Amino acid sequence: MADNNEHLALWGGRFTSGPSPELARLSKSTQFDWRLADDDIAGSRAHARALGRAGLLSADELKRMEDALDELQRRVDDGSFAPIEDDEDEATALERGLIDIAGDELGGKLRAGRSRNDQIACLIRMWLRRHARVIAGQLLGLANALIAQSEKAGKTVMPGRTHMQHAQPVLLAHQLMAHAWPLLRDVQRLIDWDRRINASPYGSGALAGNTLGLDPEAVARELGFSRVTDNSIDGTASRDLVAEFAFVAAMAGVDISRLSEEIIIWNTQEFAFVKLDDGYSTGSSIMPQKKNPDIAELARGKSGRLIGDLTGLLATLKGLPTAYARDLQEDKEAVFDQVDTLEVLLPAFTGMVATMRFDADRLEAEAPTGFALATDIAEWLVKNGVPFRHAHELSGACVKIAEGRGQELWDLTDDDFIGAFNGFLPADKAPQVREVLSSHGSVNSRNGKGGTAYGRVREQIVDAKAEVEELKLFADSTSDGPAYKAPGSF
Ligand code: ARG
Repeated sequence: MADNNEHLALWGGRFTSGPSPELARLSKSTQFDWRLADDDIAGSRAHARALGRAGLLSADELKRMEDALDELQRRVDDGSFAPIEDDEDEATALERGLIDIAGDELGGKLRAGRSRNDQIACLIRMWLRRHARVIAGQLLGLANALIAQSEKAGKTVMPGRTHMQHAQPVLLAHQLMAHAWPLLRDVQRLIDWDRRINASPYGSGALAGNTLGLDPEAVARELGFSRVTDNSIDGTASRDLVAEFAFVAAMAGVDISRLSEEIIIWNTQEFAFVKLDDGYSTGSSIMPQKKNPDIAELARGKSGRLIGDLTGLLATLKGLPTAYARDLQEDKEAVFDQVDTLEVLLPAFTGMVATMRFDADRLEAEAPTGFALATDIAEWLVKNGVPFRHAHELSGACVKIAEGRGQELWDLTDDDFIGAFNGFLPADKAPQVREVLSSHGSVNSRNGKGGTAYGRVREQIVDAKAEVEELKLFADSTSDGPAYKAPGSF
């Protein structure tokens, strides 16, 4: 077993035997953490310079170290260096690679003053900050597709539903924009989260800080952080910021899932509100006629897994003593899975949304049905001096008559209205209620801020576009450049 010790060079000293094969298999994380290799090498460069400034590497040593790190990066890039079976994690593998290149003497100096605990806490922050920008850009792409569909929808009305029952007519654009705003808030959440995670744990050491007089501020700056974490125990042991990212990713998944559900229903034969483009639908291996909304279904399904990643991580964190414990290694697969999931899902989903076609005639025809104008009758009565409590009853009486005859509200006769409103409105007034019995009239009368009237929907589209432009600054920023500052942010 003794030669096993050599492979695990990061902690062999006090052990007489190497790890058992079972432990080695359990302990190994290179199969998922190797994707942090680039960030680790960037961290090593910054750390080497900190060692140089502290006089722990001579100018010549620093130069040779930087060259060796460049060479290591080249080997990682072209695949000629990769983890081997005995490497416990990405840091172990990279140290082996560095020593291969720089030799034992120089390569062995880099580890001074840092621990894998502050290292890994820093790397996950770097990685997430970069991918948060990718995901923000993709979420904005989806929001833009919804905005474009809303503009195309113009004045088309559709049945607005509560409890899935016809409620009141709304503009199709209004319904679509209701799915855009949550996505914009998800991006806002990422921006807000980025302010908090923009602190480097480098210099925290294993938990208590370092004795070597290294300058963590300089390391932080080199790695694109605006500041250093305030507490070395917190810096190495906290994962609330990873969990917060996981929440935003899960929330985005849920937002997309709710839109998916809508598209799936609208795409059924019974609804027939929308048709999906062939390029974004799938067929069945047995039923030749089938055209299935698989993208929306996968999105709905994957939202479950995005939530699972979040809850799994929270369960891991619950009950952990502070400072570092190995449990914390479990943070990475959760968020890697979320990022992989969203980065593949969002482009396909956006393509589906951008290319779907609505059946405007059908939406228009369905919009006022199911007594969807009953509220308009009640509100018209209110405008004519009837207290709402009675107006609600009177409108309900109209619904009852129409329903009993298998008719819609606009099929009622003058006498029906006169009878229904008797005692509240004069007979010559009652039939005038017809002026509100159209879905366009109904929609346009809802013209308060945020309402479904055409002018108000235009207004929200303009506002949403401006918001997209502002949020795009974050998506286009780099996580290793100057910190993104939202206009008007604190
Ligand atoms: N691979 C570990 C992680 O991802 C970092 C190594 C810390 N290990 C340790 N024994 N202190 O969290």
